[in-house]
Amino acid sequence: MSTLIKGGRVITAADDYVGDVLIEGERIALLGESLDVDADRVIDATGKYVLPGCVDPHTHLDMPFGGTVTIDDVTSGQTSAAFGGTTCHVDFVIQPQGATFAEALEIWRAKAEGKQVIDMGYHMAVTDLREGGTLEELARLPEQGVTSYKLFMAYKGALMVDDETLFRTMEVAAETGALVMVHAENGDAIDVLVKQALAAGNTAPHYHALTRPPETEGEATNRAIQLARIAGAPLYVVHVSCREAVEPIARAREAGWDVWAETCTQYFFIDYSHLERPNFEGAKYVYTPPPRPRENQDVLWHAVRSDILSVVSTDHCAFLWDGQKTLGRDDFSKIPNGAPGLENRLHMIHEFGVRAGRISLNRMVELLATNPAKLFGLYPRKGTIAPGSDADIVVFDPEKRHLISAETHHSKSDYNLFEGTEVTGTPEIVLLRGTVLVENGELQVEPGFGRFVERAAFGQELLPAATR
Ligand code: URP
Ligand code: ZN
Ligand code: ZN
Repeated sequence: MSTLIKGGRVITAADDYVGDVLIEGERIALLGESLDVDADRVIDATGKYVLPGCVDPHTHLDMPFGGTVTIDDVTSGQTSAAFGGTTCHVDFVIQPQGATFAEALEIWRAKAEGKQVIDMGYHMAVTDLREGGTLEELARLPEQGVTSYKLFMAYKGALMVDDETLFRTMEVAAETGALVMVHAENGDAIDVLVKQALAAGNTAPHYHALTRPPETEGEATNRAIQLARIAGAPLYVVHVSCREAVEPIARAREAGWDVWAETCTQYFFIDYSHLERPNFEGAKYVYTPPPRPRENQDVLWHAVRSDILSVVSTDHCAFLWDGQKTLGRDDFSKIPNGAPGLENRLHMIHEFGVRAGRISLNRMVELLATNPAKLFGLYPRKGTIAPGSDADIVVFDPEKRHLISAETHHSKSDYNLFEGTEVTGTPEIVLLRGTVLVENGELQVEPGFGRFVERAAFGQELLPAATR
């Protein structure tokens, strides 16, 4: 099967030109100003942007968390992603206490079996590291295409690891070429603050933020950076939300250290005041790190413009408000942490980043597709439009209006963080490996179409499948 996408404005991290893209089978075969070739299907992309499929390196599908399980499984989460122009994501396998990494991977693979709509990889979240067991096994994960280790420095009593585990994992990563990812908050200090708040009778959702002040994020971010420096491991800080965390990252990058970081869509738009919404509505915005005072939003825009932050992810971790968030009606610490977002990252960053003049189209592609693909061992198979790359392409209509709403989104969550926001610009056709995933507002493939991708080691390229 061949497809010719004709006359669109092709935008990568580096290029911006009007031209044609010829797809043969699963890959991009040829690019040109005006290709004189026959194809089984021609898509007229006049007036449209032709973007690489977006890559989301931070999602949680079908994950047990906070006394419940995220509401989006692999099929609903990935369908939501596809409608938003995301064609590949990297989800977190969480090592159950006492389990080996092989057992953890088996559990997560079973959740995805026959359910995948888009392509995906896994990070391994380390929760339990033991000499003579999992420590050795950790070193072998990159051979299986799992080339990033995640550590939670918060969620005491659940996912949190101590500094010894963090540092030992970093030492393994320095040897194996894996990237270390950290959720950077000081979990011990937060635990004390949460207990004090509850003892004082402070149970409402906004205490989620008041017990996780920005300094706890700044301190842990700096600690992770310094430990990674000693271990000689590359570090990626997830979901950066505030000035206190941006500053140590800026210093490390200025010094040329191997430190990268992301923020997530919601931190540009949702602020602390959302948590104070009445009638328990604030619980919709209980995710971690919490929404911050508004002035942090400008700090984050500046950081993505100046490459202090290199990626915008979603941290999609969806729950129902009615039935799941309400578990914490009388105790904010029992509200499951997380929110939906996979479907609206491109919408929101295009509208308020590009259209508002904060970032260029090239930078948007870099933040949402190319940099995540490069950092997580998927590039150049994913994350760009180039001969040999997978034909993961978004034909994006920059003039079409789209109203963001839980009424129409594809996540199973009963709310949307950006409810009622009208954007101009939305994906019209989304292709994955040359096959149309979304067209005419409908999903065009059956679950099972998506594949698991074995990722390359940090800093290595993932060559197009045919040339491996
Ligand atoms: O609240 C959040 N972010 N939930 C998902 C788990 C995490 O910390 O990334
Ligand atoms: Zn986290
Ligand atoms: Zn997360």
